[in-house]
Amino acid sequence: MTDFVEKRDVTTDQPGQLARRGHPEAWHDQWTDLNHFLMVYKFGLAEINTKITILAEELTHRGSGNPIEHVSPRLKSPASITAKAHRLNCPLHFDDLRSRIRDIAGIRIVCSFVSDVYTVANMLTRQPDVNLVVTKDYIAKPKPNGYRSLHLIVEIPVFMSDRVVAVPVEVQLRTVAMDFWASLEHKIYYKHDPDVVPPRLRDELTAAAEDAARLDVRMERLHREIHGPRR
Ligand code: GTP
Ligand code: MG
Repeated sequence: MTDFVEKRDVTTDQPGQLARRGHPEAWHDQWTDLNHFLMVYKFGLAEINTKITILAEELTHRGSGNPIEHVSPRLKSPASITAKAHRLNCPLHFDDLRSRIRDIAGIRIVCSFVSDVYTVANMLTRQPDVNLVVTKDYIAKPKPNGYRSLHLIVEIPVFMSDRVVAVPVEVQLRTVAMDFWASLEHKIYYKHDPDVVPPRLRDELTAAAEDAARLDVRMERLHREIHGPRR
C-alpha cells in the first residue's frame, strides 16, 4: 500500500505561517493533505456509526428493547491531534500520527445497563469486518479516580478507489450513569490541574463514581425484576 501523503514536518511548515509568508498555494497544499489524511477516519467512523444504527434499529424491531441510549461520533480536531502528538513526543508527520494516535476517529455509545455495554461490544466485535485490536475494560477495573467505561480500538476496512485502508476507531461504551459522571468530571477538571484540586474533593468525586456504579446495579436489577432478562 502506498502512502497518500509525503513525509512533511507540519510543525515547521504550519499552514498559517506559510500563508503569512505569502505562500497561499503551500497553505492550500497542506490543507488538502490534512483533509486527505482525515478523510479515511471520517469514512471509518461513518461505517461504525452505521453498524451501531443497524444494531439499535434491529434490536428495537425485535422487541427486546433497544440497549443503546445515544451515540456520539467525533473526529479529533487538528488542534487536538497536534496537542496529543506533542504529549506523546510524536513527530508531526502523517505516517507517525497514523501509527501512534489511534483515537483520531472516536465513537461513544451510551447504553442503558452494564450488561448492555458488553452485549453491544460483542455484537460489534464479532462482525467479520471488525478487527478488535485493543480492549481496555475500565468497568471491570475502574481508573483510580473512579472513571468507568469499556474502551475498544477496532479496525474497519474502508474501500477507496485504489486501495483498502484498515482505519482504527476508538469505541467508548458506557452506561448513562457512567456518562453522567464522566461528563461532569471532565467539566470540573477542564483546564484545571488535577493537583490543585484538594484531595478531599478528589476523593468525593471518586465516591460519586461509586454511587453511580451502585445506581447502575440497582437500575439493572429493577429492570430485570420488571421485564426479565433481555432476550
Ligand atoms: P487519551 O490520550 O486521553 O486518549 O488517553 P489514552 O490514550 O491513554 O486512553 P484512555 O483509554 O485512558 O482514555 C481515552 C479517553 O477516555 C479520553 O480521551 C477520555 O475521553 C476518556 N477518559 C479516560 N479517562 C477519563 C477520566 O478519568 N475522566 C473522563 N471524564 N474521561 C476519561
Ligand atoms: Mg482520546
